[in-house]
Amino acid sequence: MNNSKSEKIVMLNIKEKYELSKAIVKNLRILKAPLPVILFLFNYLQKFKISHVGENYIIHSHLPPVNSGAYARFINEHLLSKSFGPSHAQIGITDKCGQNCDYCYNKKRSGIPMDTEVILKTVHELKELGVFWLGLTGGEPLLNQDIVRIIENASADCAVKLFTTGCSLTRELAEDMKNAGLCSVSVSLDHWIPEEHDAVRNYPGAYSQALKAIEIFKSVGGIHIGVSAVISKSMLNSGEVEKFISFLEGLGLHEAWLSETKPSIEPFWESSEQVTEAEKNMLSALQDRNNRKPGMTVNYLGHFESAQNFGCNAGHKMVSIDPFGEVSPCVFIPMSFGNVKDKSIKDIWSDMRKRFPSEKTCFINKNYGLLKKYYQGKLPIGPGDSAGIMSEVTFGPRSRFIEMNYGRNL
Ligand SMILES: C[S@@+](CC[C@H](N)C(=O)[O-])C[C@H]1O[C@@H](n2cnc3c(N)ncnc32)[C@H](O)[C@@H]1O
Ligand code: SF4
Repeated sequence: MNNSKSEKIVMLNIKEKYELSKAIVKNLRILKAPLPVILFLFNYLQKFKISHVGENYIIHSHLPPVNSGAYARFINEHLLSKSFGPSHAQIGITDKCGQNCDYCYNKKRSGIPMDTEVILKTVHELKELGVFWLGLTGGEPLLNQDIVRIIENASADCAVKLFTTGCSLTRELAEDMKNAGLCSVSVSLDHWIPEEHDAVRNYPGAYSQALKAIEIFKSVGGIHIGVSAVISKSMLNSGEVEKFISFLEGLGLHEAWLSETKPSIEPFWESSEQVTEAEKNMLSALQDRNNRKPGMTVNYLGHFESAQNFGCNAGHKMVSIDPFGEVSPCVFIPMSFGNVKDKSIKDIWSDMRKRFPSEKTCFINKNYGLLKKYYQGKLPIGPGDSAGIMSEVTFGPRSRFIEMNYGRNL
């Protein structure tokens, strides 16, 4: 990271340890949670390092900083009060994008994009419902001219994360986003070879844009910086993920956020495209191995959503609003349960939440086959057909955490 003392990862000094202890003591209400839940969280958190970034102490970019108001909301509203609302949301703040990634979950979508007022209203309502972590996505979110205003409106007691290609980023914009309260950023980077990254994104120059953006964010400081890397089947099969991680380590990032390609669009609705359990276990082991060393944190989605951890919380604790206002249980599930331009997010959530009891396996990895039956060339699948799909879906047991904290039933 830059040379600032406050940007270091692990190895906290005495003052930092004191600040961190203060934050933990401030949230001692966590001890009101059942003992198994506390032990579970302790074991989970043990697997990660802690980064001191600006004012924040961050375990990983999908949890709010432990010394933040957002973290206190997680404990009070979700862990203890067991809110019915979502904790995590992603919102597509524009459909515009110069790149055209082979796997992009936004393909085949169209309509009238949400304007800034609708976005701000939706963000406000999401926070009222319980959201303390908000991902800004798209399209390319930097192409929304009102991005700083959106972050400013969202960031009080809510950890805001930006997903971006880095295109068109200037130092000034990065500074403005930081001052507006941006907590973390993931710049997309799928390969260490420039031509490979550009090829999957069908955009010459994507790689150099991404690297330039990382350098800008580093020079500004105060924002937790990671990459979002989609690990392809071919990288998994060639056994080169370790090599990729070493490359990312060399970029001086706080975090590598890894996921496999989710079957969100038609070309990936084939069993040969799916990541196997063995491959997921391999990535989880790689994460844990890496996190025992100092330096960059590895944060693998498949580990977070595994049966032993938090499972799949699509539609249960997670919600996604696409650039056109369509509401889905998760960015990766191309099924709509309503549009925020027609109905309040609260009403759409209440209806959707009843259909998603949470399960220990990823909904889309398990049910992508059903999409084929209802797909008519346009995504997301509309509310009527989504209800049809749900009538064919069966849910299995819940993950360890959800079962411990919320019980076995809806
Ligand atoms: C939709 S993009 C929007 C932000 C920006 N345009 C970008 O690409 O970084 C958000 C993130 O989702 C990832 N993504 C898109 N489709 C995906 C899929 N089917 N499976 C896994 N990740 C996906 C992208 O690589 C990116 O890191
Ligand atoms: S850059 Fe992002 S939004 Fe654009 S096509 Fe790629 S994944 Fe989709």
